[in-house]
Amino acid sequence: MFRTNTCGELRLANVGQTVTLAGWVQRTRKMGGMTFVDLRDRYGITQLVFNDEIDANLCAEANKLGREYVIQVEGKVAERSNKNTNMETGEIEIIVGKLNVLNASLTPPFTIEENSDGGDDLRMKYRYLDLRRSNVRSNLELRHKMTMEVRRYLDSKGFLEIETPMLIGSTPEGARDFVVPSRMNPGQFYALPQSPQTLKQLLMVSGMDRYFQIVKCFRDEDLRADRQPEFTQIDCEMSFVEQEDIISMFEGMAKHLFKTIRGVELKEPFLRMSWDDAMKYYGSDKPDLRFGMKFVELKEVFDGKADFAVFNEAKYIGGICAEGCASYTRKQLDQLTDFVKKPQIGAKGLVYARVQEDGTVKSSVDKFYGQDVLQDLKEKMNAKPGDLILILSGPDVMKTRKQLCELRLEMGNQLGLRDKNKFALLWVVDFPMFEWSDEEGRLMAMHHPFTHPKDEDIPLLDTDPAAVRADAYDMVCNGVEVGGGSIRIHDPKLQDKMFRILGFTEERAQEQFGFLMNAFKYGAPPHGGLAYGLDRWVSIFAGLDSIRDVIAFPKNTSGRDVMLDAPSTIDDKQLDELNLKIDIKEAE
Ligand code: AMO
Repeated sequence: MFRTNTCGELRLANVGQTVTLAGWVQRTRKMGGMTFVDLRDRYGITQLVFNDEIDANLCAEANKLGREYVIQVEGKVAERSNKNTNMETGEIEIIVGKLNVLNASLTPPFTIEENSDGGDDLRMKYRYLDLRRSNVRSNLELRHKMTMEVRRYLDSKGFLEIETPMLIGSTPEGARDFVVPSRMNPGQFYALPQSPQTLKQLLMVSGMDRYFQIVKCFRDEDLRADRQPEFTQIDCEMSFVEQEDIISMFEGMAKHLFKTIRGVELKEPFLRMSWDDAMKYYGSDKPDLRFGMKFVELKEVFDGKADFAVFNEAKYIGGICAEGCASYTRKQLDQLTDFVKKPQIGAKGLVYARVQEDGTVKSSVDKFYGQDVLQDLKEKMNAKPGDLILILSGPDVMKTRKQLCELRLEMGNQLGLRDKNKFALLWVVDFPMFEWSDEEGRLMAMHHPFTHPKDEDIPLLDTDPAAVRADAYDMVCNGVEVGGGSIRIHDPKLQDKMFRILGFTEERAQEQFGFLMNAFKYGAPPHGGLAYGLDRWVSIFAGLDSIRDVIAFPKNTSGRDVMLDAPSTIDDKQLDELNLKIDIKEAE
């Protein structure tokens, strides 16, 4: 037997047993005639002891062990005199009788311990070493547990796990496709799926009724902490359902995950908020509801009450009330002003008002507005003595709301209100069907072109498409969109109309989606579905800010795999076989 036990399982009850362990040398310490080695494997760390007085040769061998050597040892489990309560195996140690060096190791480029001295890039380059660290490994263990629970839940509800192809045609989800040239079809390309959206709809036409897949999706888009170019969806679709059926099925799954993974019992139905309200009160379609600071619209408080052009000319004035923050110093307020003026936020400035202990209001616009207006402000904001009111204004309602959203989140961070052990879940519903794209100069589908409009809004498709709302829903947890889906169009005529509104010519719609439109002519059932972002769920449960830490081999912010050094060029022979020529335009 290679090993009798793992490095994480021996306890006082095992004292006296002869055991064989195998693993990596995390550290060696020499103290007098004794050498101590921390032996690590996936399951934990066990202390080994080599005693010079018992076996000088063996101890000399142990003294030659370098960090990350792979060894096998045989020895006796003994009770430790100085116990380490921080370690699960901290009450015992192994008095080693035999040592077998299985493999040597170069000195690793960073320390492989919970708190590594390695920077991000270095750890990504040597990700296989980074994964030996217990905190990184435990993220993957959590991920595994979650996928097991997802499968358990969906299986119990009659879902079939079905794989769909990775080499497909373009799937419009609003991002760019990653494309793969076809050698056998010169000049033609596959696209990697942005999601299996059209395929899962075809599976519903096939009568599969309930489908799921834990599936890689690929999107060539700008990366952020919660976005990777390849990520994993828990992708689901159901036939003969309405929005309520889907919401209840996947709310059930979220509750199942919270219960089995985090031990949190979420009993109440999740809050529902319309997209309109989410934008109005939080400036975001994924509001973080772990804390308040709901927006208050203030146009009528200030309008025309003074000669203050900034407010008079603004289309939108909105405020948030930061409880107990009237004591913010001038420096802190200047920093907040700098924050909202950062180019990526883009506000012109910040107006603030402190509610003083005597109830009077002292503001940065005192020279324009008297106490009457400021008291009105205080009332509207429901502010109490000691509170700080922060106000942004601007010519574009949506843009200003988004700026105020950033300020709200920043205040949430500063005040420690975004507690990682607190979970605020909600459904955002009633999304607009379309959004205007300046870049494309046309309406675009906000979710995707297969989303069903709300029945009562269908007449508006002809008269006022921008006002049409969709049967679409997102699940949001702690300000992160963890999933989204919709009821689909199953009527070919309505789908056709949708493509027209989205600016597709008949030929292009046929060329890109003919397969789906044709399938719909053979009896498509009413259907709908949802996809959860697995990486996002795991990172929330792990209390992490970035999904990179829950992916075994992630890409960096430039979309590179620095370990594999991908993407990379290919050689001329490969290019030749693919009938491709590279012609890189010089950057201006
Ligand atoms: P959507 O585009 O909303 O819907 O994606 C579903 C969920 O996938 C996650 N997600 C991502 N996670 C990490 N990195 C990314 N780049 C990324 N992009 C999306 C999010 C998101 O909520 N086909 C539809 C689903 C449907 O209608 O059933 C779709 O893909 O958590």
